[in-house]
Amino acid sequence: MNLVDLNKVAQAMVMPGKGILAADESSGTIKKRFDAINVESTEDTRRDYREMLFRSKDAMSKYISGVILYDETIWQKAKDGTPLVQLIEQAGAIPGIKVDEGTQPLPGCPGELVTAGLDKLGERLAAYYKQGARFAKWRAVIDIGKDIPSMTAIHVNAHALARYAALCQAAQIVPIVEPEVLMDGDHDIDRCYQVTQRVLNKTFQELRVQRVALEGMILKPNMAVSGKKSPKQASVGEVAEKTIRLLKSCVPAAVPGIAFLSGGQSDEDATAHLDAMNRIGGLPWKLSFSYGRALQSAPQKAWSGKSENIAAGQRAFTHRARMNSLASKGEWKSELEQRNAA
Ligand code: 13P
Repeated sequence: MNLVDLNKVAQAMVMPGKGILAADESSGTIKKRFDAINVESTEDTRRDYREMLFRSKDAMSKYISGVILYDETIWQKAKDGTPLVQLIEQAGAIPGIKVDEGTQPLPGCPGELVTAGLDKLGERLAAYYKQGARFAKWRAVIDIGKDIPSMTAIHVNAHALARYAALCQAAQIVPIVEPEVLMDGDHDIDRCYQVTQRVLNKTFQELRVQRVALEGMILKPNMAVSGKKSPKQASVGEVAEKTIRLLKSCVPAAVPGIAFLSGGQSDEDATAHLDAMNRIGGLPWKLSFSYGRALQSAPQKAWSGKSENIAAGQRAFTHRARMNSLASKGEWKSELEQRNAA
């Protein structure tokens, strides 16, 4: 492992004003997204859609540092035969790859999940590196409910995240470590805070035990937010203040950057929260975005599977990328959303 180079890639992933596009939806997830816009999900429509995003010149070259791809996409070519990976590189962004293989029920823990994909991961990482991937992603899922999460679920998921991260670094690939605490429940923000704190503490404990170099990784956490079904929704200020307090209590300063997931927040909430945190400032790590839905919902709607809508889809993507770029510097204003909505 060359830690200096890993650290350079990690720094580039969170360089000022840039963040990560999570375009790594599995075939099942992208089908759900396409169903919502009445587009059939085929190898070609998935390619056309992602090609539209990666050919958005302004968005990709000014606001996006890296793109997380799904296995199918990293091997795909654009309509004119250019590998999609090359489109990303030509825009000055770094290709990355989702390497987990989704979740499975955790034995003995009803309602809880563990992420699969460690078998043969070393070999897969070597093949992805050859194909151009310089960072990877692994997502662990922790749900909040009555009597969950259990210590067992937190432990096995943290252990797997650290196993994955160590294998990535050995393959000269920067791991994005993503322990996602879901926001689906009716819990309040303080419960989300407490659970996320337990999850992050356990994750960093495992990373240390397994000798992962913190300088060569990126953390992708959820923010401290109220559950979607909670009657008590925290304000933007409260989310920002509590998320910063939480991260300061668990994330070592050696980690170069934290790139949040959007997790089902509205586009504007995801931007406003990131902006408010960066306005607080005085942080030991860069705070940026690694959004899936909050970057893609608008372009998906604008595109709706029609080639005549490609320019509109690219405009919608560029707008969201720019808003989140400003938020990563604490320079976003809600008026900018209204002006562009026209
Ligand atoms: P969302 O921003 O839609 O939560 O997706 C980010 C991601 O990569 C989840 O693994």
